[in-house]
Order: sequence, then structure tokens, then C-alpha cells
Amino acid sequence: MGLKKLYGVIGDPIAHSLSPAMHNEELEKLGIDAYYHPFHVKGKDLPKAIEGMKVLGVEGFNITIPHKTDVMPLLDEVDPLAKRIGAVNTVVSNNGKYIGYNTDGQGFIDAVKEEWEVFPASGRTLIIGAGGAARAIYYTLISSGLTQVDICNRTLSRAEELIGSHQTNADSQALTLKEAESELGRYSLLIQTTSIGMGDSEGMSPIMLQNMQQNCFVADIIYTPWKTAFLEQAAAGGAKIQNGIGMLVHQGALAFEKWTGISPDTDRMKKTVMERLGGITC
Ligand code: ATR
Repeated sequence: MGLKKLYGVIGDPIAHSLSPAMHNEELEKLGIDAYYHPFHVKGKDLPKAIEGMKVLGVEGFNITIPHKTDVMPLLDEVDPLAKRIGAVNTVVSNNGKYIGYNTDGQGFIDAVKEEWEVFPASGRTLIIGAGGAARAIYYTLISSGLTQVDICNRTLSRAEELIGSHQTNADSQALTLKEAESELGRYSLLIQTTSIGMGDSEGMSPIMLQNMQQNCFVADIIYTPWKTAFLEQAAAGGAKIQNGIGMLVHQGALAFEKWTGISPDTDRMKKTVMERLGGITC
């Protein structure tokens, strides 16, 4: 029998990560002799941690806040999309070399396709926010061939930079939050990527949706609370809504597949995560 394989996630903080439960349950159910461990690593220790992971033969791992960018120069290779995004969330060992990928954006796309059966790209798409999550989603959408993707943000210059730094034929515009509110009728898909609506800002929404198309598709990447004030507003206006649980599961499923070569059961992963979140049901 070979050695048990080791996977994990590196972050700070890490204790509340749902990834260990999600991956370990799946490894066990699929009969894979491996274990996924949460590693609490402070920024100053990141280089030592990556070196240690390699020496100890860790086969693959996730990287989460706040290390997604700082890990990049510590890896042997970084995939072109992850480079463009400027963040790595998944590391895979290839014959002892660590290769970095970003599965966040594709995880979002897979979640949307699963939930809505289509990617609602017939009209324009609006991303709300211009931080790390927005970067991953924007670049993955553009890389997968979508062209009409706009970004609105509290700080307009960040949205402009995000669009400007991508050399493609994308027909993208940067908008202020106020402009987005009045132009909302142009969009068939809205993607909320800011942290507004969770933690201290629970109950708040980054934009008001009065001008939204009635049959709009609306996604929020937050999953605690289950339904943000933004999604409540969208649902009240007749939109089809989804929260961030699907993205969490699918970014993990893509990493799992890269490590093991096996497609995990995403319904089961979702169930595991929902149980951990306190038995919330859809
Ligand atoms: P992440 O990597 O999680 O996306 P981030 O890079 O800090 O986090 O980005 C957070 C996003 O939430 C940004 O778009 C931020 O807007 P700014 O670029 O103007 O900072 C947005 N955000 C945070 N607090 C906000 C608030 N009170 N109102 C509106 N947008 C806010």
C-alpha cells in the first residue's frame, strides 16, 4: 500500500474554512486514501510553509486569504489565467514541481451553469466590485469568450484599472455605483462580488435594484447570510437568484479534480457544506 496522500489549505485565519469538511468527506466517500488539512500560516512564514509542504511531499493545496497573491513567486510555475488574475487559489504538484492555478472564476461559471442550466450571457453582464473576487470572475468570463462585461465599483479607478489591464477585444465599461443603478435595465446578469451584505454590513446592499430587468439573473458570491439584502431585493424584483455556495463548492471541485483526476460529487459537497453552515436548506 502506498503512503496516504496529503492535501490542505493555507490561510490566516483558517479555523472556519469549510474546505476541510468538504474535501475530506469526498475523499472518504470516493475511497481515496488521502487527507485534507487546514494549515494556519502567517504571512511572514509563507515561504517556509511552501518549502515545507514540498519537502514533506504534500500533493496539492488551496491557498486562501491573505496569501493568494504572495504565494505566486514561491511556486515553480503559474498558469496564464492565474497570472492574469494575479492570484492563485489552487496548487498542484507535478513531479515535485508546484504549479499554481485559479479555480475561483471557473468555479463561479460552473455554479451558474449548474444552477441555471445556461450561462445567461445573451445580454450584458455587470460585475459589482473590483477586488480580488471580481478580478477572478472578470478575467475568467473574458477568457471564456464573453465580451459584454461591465464593472461598477465604489472607487471608479479600480474598475477602470481592472478593465484596462486586460488586453482583449472585450467591450467593457467602468461605472460608478450610482451610474450602475440608473443603467441597470441594460443587464441580464448581475454578479455581486463585494463583502457588502455580510458581517458588519449585513442588511446592506452595494446598489439599489429598482431599475433591474424583471427576468434578470442575479448572483451574490456571499453565502453567510444565505440570502443577502442584495439577493432579497433581486428576488422581490422578480429575478432568478443564487448565492455563493455554488461557487465555493465548484472552485473546490475543480481543485479536487486537478489533484486526484476524479470528478467529485458536487451535490454531496454542497450538502456537506450546508450541514456545516447549520443545516440551511435551499
Ligand atoms: P476581495 O478580494 O474579497 O474582493 P477587496 O479586494 O478588499 O476584497 O475588494 C472589496 C470590494 O468591495 C471592492 O470592490 C470594494 O470597493 P473599493 O474598491 O471602492 O474599496 C468593495 N467595498 C468594500 N466596502 C464597500 C462599501 N462600504 N461600499 C461599497 N463597496 C465596498
